[in-house]
Amino acid sequence: MSSEASEKIESVLKETRLFPPPAEFVEQAHISSEEKYQEMWNRAKDQPAEFWGETAGNLHWFKKFDTVLEGEMPNTKWFTGGKINACYNCVDRHLHTWRKNKAAIIWEGEPGDTRVLTYQDLHREVSKFANVLKKLGVTTGDRVTLYMPMIPELAIAMLACSRIGATHSIIFGGFSADAVADRNNDAQSKLVITADAGWRRGKEVPLKTAVDESLEKSPSVEKVVVVRRTGAEVTMVDDRDYWWHELMEDVSADCEAVELESEHPLFILYTSGSTGKPKGVLHTTAGYLLGATMTSRWVFDLKEEDTYWCTADIGWITGHSYIVYGPLSNGATTIMYEGAPNWPDEGRFWEIVEKYQVNIFYTAPTAIRAFIKWGDEFPNKYDLSSLRLLGTVGEPINPKAWMWYYEIIGGERCPIVDTWWQTETGGCLITNLAGITPAKASWATLPLPGVQPVLVDEEGNEAKPAPTADGAVITSGNLCMKAPWPGILRTTWGDHDRCRQTYFSTYKDLYFTGDGALRDENGNYRITGRVDDVLNVSGHRIGTAEVENAINMHAGVIESAVVGYPHDIKGQGIYAYIIAEGVKPEDEERQRQNILQTVTRIIGPIAKPDKIQFVNGLPKTRSGKIMRRILRKIAEGQTDNLGDTSTLLDPAVVETIAKGKV
Ligand code: WTA
Repeated sequence: MSSEASEKIESVLKETRLFPPPAEFVEQAHISSEEKYQEMWNRAKDQPAEFWGETAGNLHWFKKFDTVLEGEMPNTKWFTGGKINACYNCVDRHLHTWRKNKAAIIWEGEPGDTRVLTYQDLHREVSKFANVLKKLGVTTGDRVTLYMPMIPELAIAMLACSRIGATHSIIFGGFSADAVADRNNDAQSKLVITADAGWRRGKEVPLKTAVDESLEKSPSVEKVVVVRRTGAEVTMVDDRDYWWHELMEDVSADCEAVELESEHPLFILYTSGSTGKPKGVLHTTAGYLLGATMTSRWVFDLKEEDTYWCTADIGWITGHSYIVYGPLSNGATTIMYEGAPNWPDEGRFWEIVEKYQVNIFYTAPTAIRAFIKWGDEFPNKYDLSSLRLLGTVGEPINPKAWMWYYEIIGGERCPIVDTWWQTETGGCLITNLAGITPAKASWATLPLPGVQPVLVDEEGNEAKPAPTADGAVITSGNLCMKAPWPGILRTTWGDHDRCRQTYFSTYKDLYFTGDGALRDENGNYRITGRVDDVLNVSGHRIGTAEVENAINMHAGVIESAVVGYPHDIKGQGIYAYIIAEGVKPEDEERQRQNILQTVTRIIGPIAKPDKIQFVNGLPKTRSGKIMRRILRKIAEGQTDNLGDTSTLLDPAVVETIAKGKV
């Protein structure tokens, strides 16, 4: 560990301030005491079938399941024999209650246009679009790609897919045509749903054009549905491309939700790992939905009258679970915002909080760090007193950002939940509970019921507690899970062995998260970050191998090595060391720009390196392995004391690289 990294951890370990939830909050919370939490946690551990069997009563079942859990990780099956539909749970079941005319989705477009869909409205739109899907030949079991802006049609399309049992694969709008094609091919998608373009900081993001390009390389796609959003000019191909609004004109609003097996594939979501190829994480219907539903209720303490806003993009897991499935299954009111936080100015989020009197606000540390940089005057201009609970997700939150969030946004009144989880976990696993767990700045704190974390050393032995310099006793290790939970990933699409190898083979009988963590004497966890070759850039997961592959596609690049380095706003920045054929110093800048363009074309702008250093050689061991540890240190700015370089093929190369640091 670098001295900078260990200093950071030390300062976090000294963090002894605890922030107990205010008494008024505790009184009304769903889980209202530490004893209650302990009782639930113990029961979920000792009697999982009973605990989850009962908890599953919070969902609507067409037919009750016979067995709660079958099999061992990674081959678990939950709620077998049951018949269920996620869309029915998120929409139809509320129609039989007073929620029928409650706002389900409050949407705000970036230009300021707004739409509100009640549960009844949502039911109509979803049913109609489900009929459109059927008309276009989509049936239960087919895969459908969604590459859309944050508009209500995205939620409608997701729910319409789940209504008829089609498996959706949502691709974040920031990915390139090539990335869309790869994902279409892997999932063998039959249909793509997109928009003419989306809005981002007042500019149009040409989604349909990217889809057109992707289809040249993804032949499984037969048809495309296009939402008219910005009015951008697009090419429509006869018998392939259809306008959403035209299709919706002549379909009925009557479409029964299909009764599906509990383990029916609900969605695929591609995510990065330590290899070059993103994996299609598969979640199935009942287990995932139960996780999303219960964690929304437990963690965010969702109440009937709350206006809840998660600022994520639905293209990532956070948006799947905590904008759409979790909140809607609970019958909540969820806000969806289309655009950037700094458009038309840096106060946009706070304007939205005031306008809709948001009660629960869930965002990412990278956003919080950007808000700090933009200045307090933006939040201070707005009335944020409606807020009662704040949340963060996606990366470790540093104490400074945590305190700012607590004081400036939460007015020292709102508990903060620091929720740790992953695409693969479906929903939150480790987090404080708003009503009961005292928050500890930058600690995710405790495991939810049904979650059994364990910290292990490299060999897989349980890590031992050790005293730190300032008197704390801390256990440090790689974070694993001992037991399955309903929302655990079931497979990686089309390659179950890859799933087994990636997550379940590093340590025997454990699910390995890829994260490192610390545990204090009271059982609180602090996630310290990835221990594999996965970067977390502005909360986006990006594999170093993926970026290297993209860079290597550029003509003239011989080899590259990508590492992360600490970045004030993004959490981690991308640093690329590149060996390129005959780059003269005067050509370096042009070459850099060209490489950035290549990365944008192959993956998307989110994967563009922040720094590129041209080098003549990379530090390799005699067996040819790149010593990333050394490259990481140099990227972090630590150019002396680089550790043992004696095993390197050519130790001199390190010095040259360190001298040329950008
Ligand atoms: C990181 C996002 C620290 C972690 C839901 C994990 C966090 C990866 C936290 C998953 C948190 C997520 N504290 N780190 N509260 N939440 N992470 O799949 O490294 O996009 O493995 O899921 O984000 O990213 P993913």
